[in-house]
Amino acid sequence: MAPTTEHDQSARPSTLLITGGAGYIGSHTCVALQAAGYRLVVLDNFCNSQPETLDRVERISGQRLTAVHGDVRDRALLDRVLSEQAIAGVIHFAGLKAVGESSEKPLDYYENNVAGSVTLLQAMQAAGVKTLVFSSSATVYGMPQFLPYTEAHPLAPVNPYGRTKLMVEDMLRDLQQADAAWRIAILRYFNPVGAHPSGLIGEDPQGIPNNLMPFIAQVAGGRRAFLNIWGNDYDTPDGTGVRDYIHVDDLAAGHVAALQHLQRGAGSVTLNLGSGVGHSVLEVAQAFEAACGRPIARQFAPRRAGDLPAFWADSSLAQQVLGWRAASSLTQMCEDTWRFQRGLQTAS
Ligand code: NAD
Ligand code: UD1
Repeated sequence: MAPTTEHDQSARPSTLLITGGAGYIGSHTCVALQAAGYRLVVLDNFCNSQPETLDRVERISGQRLTAVHGDVRDRALLDRVLSEQAIAGVIHFAGLKAVGESSEKPLDYYENNVAGSVTLLQAMQAAGVKTLVFSSSATVYGMPQFLPYTEAHPLAPVNPYGRTKLMVEDMLRDLQQADAAWRIAILRYFNPVGAHPSGLIGEDPQGIPNNLMPFIAQVAGGRRAFLNIWGNDYDTPDGTGVRDYIHVDDLAAGHVAALQHLQRGAGSVTLNLGSGVGHSVLEVAQAFEAACGRPIARQFAPRRAGDLPAFWADSSLAQQVLGWRAASSLTQMCEDTWRFQRGLQTAS
């Protein structure tokens, strides 16, 4: 059934603008939103994704969406989309996300992530569209002062990427303060992994993957010889880094829940979206071996600069406020990643 808002009690489904909807998290969220009855307009400049992903989203959902090839920094385009499409709310995924690159090209990150968000918010304000879900990150917390991180943990990101996320968060808090009509959900993702069970969409990074799960998947598929485990001398149970991995479909479901919460008029929120469980690099490698039935060649290597030893989420607030919690096991995350990886290799 189509979701309705306080102001829209008609049977007509609301239309959402999804920036960056062709990307990894955006595409899975589009599938979940279509299943929940929303109509979608996806705005993406495809700087880190393929238009074909949106065809695959349509194949999975059996529903059409409107794709707009464009940039969130293009105010005229945003004005046009917001006025022509009767947009009820926006989910803002578009941005750059590579931590290492953000230190090398900080201005690209401030321009895309911060200036892009300013332009989007100005266009939304002008169009009277004041419902927003924003992709933030656990990276805003920085060095853990206590674990698990709760939403009340101090915010002290340690790299330019993280600072762009905190700047947008601050801007959103100021906007909410200035105008109570805004309905804003700031979602702080932990480590999204996995793929849709169809194997049609997933994470396919360009070049050498920075992140653990795609790297392991490429080792399993024979595209990389072995995994470097960055550090085995951390103060963790097996000495390797510990993270909170969350299935991307659980994350997608969290967006639907957050949006519905805002549309009900239940108030703005800032929430951790994680599984609440930490897994070490070795545990992930072993779980992947079980999922793919192949050994993951690996060696220990020095710590990666800038890495934190361990962090995971307290996601109880999201459960309390949204009735949402991550349901998938690490095994499921590995099996779905592997299915997608095999599909990529068959296609190439
Ligand atoms: P992604 O790179 O797969 O998706 C981002 C999408 O935005 C891509 O399709 C890209 O082409 C598009 N895009 C980038 N700049 C744009 C612009 N100026 N205008 C229009 N489109 C633009 O990344 P993702 O993993 O799906 O991440 C989505 C969001 O979630 C990002 O904001 C990211 O910072 C945030 N996030 C991601 C993670 C993660 O581990 N994947 C963790 C925390 C937060
Ligand atoms: C990275 C980003 C973080 C972002 C998160 C989710 C950095 C410094 N931080 O964090 O901002 O929010 O991704 O996208 O890049 N590992 C290996 N070998 C590898 C790759 C990773 O041992 O080849 C280890 C890491 O040392 C870490 C764990 O695996 O202990 C997870 O790494 P990764 O997937 O890169 O995520 P984060 O470090 O959490």
